[in-house]
Amino acid sequence: MKKTSQELPAIAGGKPAKTVPYGSQIRYGEEESKQLKEAIDKGVLFYASGNKVKEMERRIAGLTGAEYAVAASSGTASIHAAMIALGISPGDEIITAPITDMGSLIPILYQGAVPVFADVCPHSYTLSPQSVEEHITERTRAVLAIHLWGNACDLTALKDICLRHNLYLIEDCAQAWGCTYKGAFVGSVGDIGCFSLNEFKHISCGEGGVAVTSDEGIARRLRLATDKCYDREPGVAFRDPSFLANNYRMTELQAAVASAQLDKLAGIVERRRWWGRELSSRLQDLEGITLPKPASGCDPTWWFYMLRIKPRVLGCDADEYAAALKAEGLRATPHYIGRCVYEYLVFTRHSAFERGGHPYERYDYHAGLCPIAEEVLETGVVLPVSEAFTDIDLEETAEAIYRVARWFMNGCK
Ligand SMILES: Cc1ncc(COP(=O)(O)O)c(C=O)c1O
Repeated sequence: MKKTSQELPAIAGGKPAKTVPYGSQIRYGEEESKQLKEAIDKGVLFYASGNKVKEMERRIAGLTGAEYAVAASSGTASIHAAMIALGISPGDEIITAPITDMGSLIPILYQGAVPVFADVCPHSYTLSPQSVEEHITERTRAVLAIHLWGNACDLTALKDICLRHNLYLIEDCAQAWGCTYKGAFVGSVGDIGCFSLNEFKHISCGEGGVAVTSDEGIARRLRLATDKCYDREPGVAFRDPSFLANNYRMTELQAAVASAQLDKLAGIVERRRWWGRELSSRLQDLEGITLPKPASGCDPTWWFYMLRIKPRVLGCDADEYAAALKAEGLRATPHYIGRCVYEYLVFTRHSAFERGGHPYERYDYHAGLCPIAEEVLETGVVLPVSEAFTDIDLEETAEAIYRVARWFMNGCK
C-alpha cells in the first residue's frame, strides 16, 4: 500500500486511484427462488397458515439468542410493534439518538409519545450514556438505542441506566445484523430488539422486519401488535381487540426470501468485518482523519464506514474532501443524513398532524440540541461497504483516501 504516494489526485489532474469498478453481486438467486417456490406450492401466503414466517422467526430467535421473534412488514413496523407491546402511550418520553432513520422516530410519534434526543459519542456516533441519563425525566418510559453502522451502543451502560430508572431498553438493530456485544448478539440485551430486512440492509427480503425478545408476555403482545390485536391462539375470541394495533403482518413470500438470506448472513458479515478491519488498519496513522471507533467489546458488522475529517488539519471541509474522493472513483458522501433528525420540519414545526395537537409540541426541537452529533455530521464522510468488495477495491480505496488527504494537507500543491 503506497501510504507515501506522491500521485496527484484526480481533482488536480491526476489519474483516479480507482482503476476497476467496485465488486458487485446480485444478492438474490437460486436459494431465494427455491424458498419462494415452496411457499407458492403450499398454496397459502398468510403467515398464520403457512410455515415460512414461523420458520424464519425460529431461526432469527436462535441466531440472536432471544427466546422469541415476531415478524413484521418493515423495520419501522417492528419498532412500532415494540412501542405498542411495551404500552408506550401519549405523552411518554422516549430517549433516542439524533443520527438515525425516520423509521426509528415515526413509531414514537404515532404512539403520541415524545422523542427526546440525547447526544452521541464523537467516534462511535452512538448514544452517549451520560447524555441519556441527563435527559431522563419523570415522563421517560424507554431508551431506543440505535446501533448505527453495524456498531453496538454501549449496552452495558445503557442497560444499567434503564434498570436504575425503571425504563425499557429497545434496541434498533436495523443496521446491525450479526453484530455482537461482549459475546451477545445485539437485540438480545434489551427488552426488545428490532431488525430491518429492507432492500439495503445486510440481509433483505425487499421489505420486512422482525422484533426479538426473551419475555413471553412481551412476545405475545408483539404478535398482537403486528396483527390488528387479533388473537389467533386456538380457542380465543380473536375479534375482540383489547388495544390499538396495525396490520404489520409479513407474508410467506417475504419470509421465504428472508430464510434464504439468513443462510448467507455469516458470509456477508465475515466479509464486511474484513473490510472494516483492513480499511481501518490501513488508515490508522493518517493525519487529518478520525476513524470510526466500535464500542468496547463490540465486533461491528460495518453497514457503512463513516470517517470524520479534521478541517483545521486538512484545510478542507467534508464536501471538498468527499468531492475529491469521488473524483478518485470512490462512492463517498459527505454528512451522512445531512442534519440531525430533530432539524427536520416534522420536528421544528411540530407538523406530524394537521390539527389536534400532539404531546411533542411541548418540546422545542432546534439546531444546537446535540452539538456532538451535529459536528459528527458536519465532518463525516460516508463510504459504502459491501460483501462484494475485493482486495483491489480495498487497496485503491485506502490509496485514494491517503492521496487526497496528503494533497489537502500540503495546501493543494
Ligand atoms: C437505524 C434504522 N432504524 C430503522 C429503520 C427502518 O427500517 P425500514 O426501512 O425497514 O422500515 C432503518 C432503515 O433504514 C434504519 O436505518
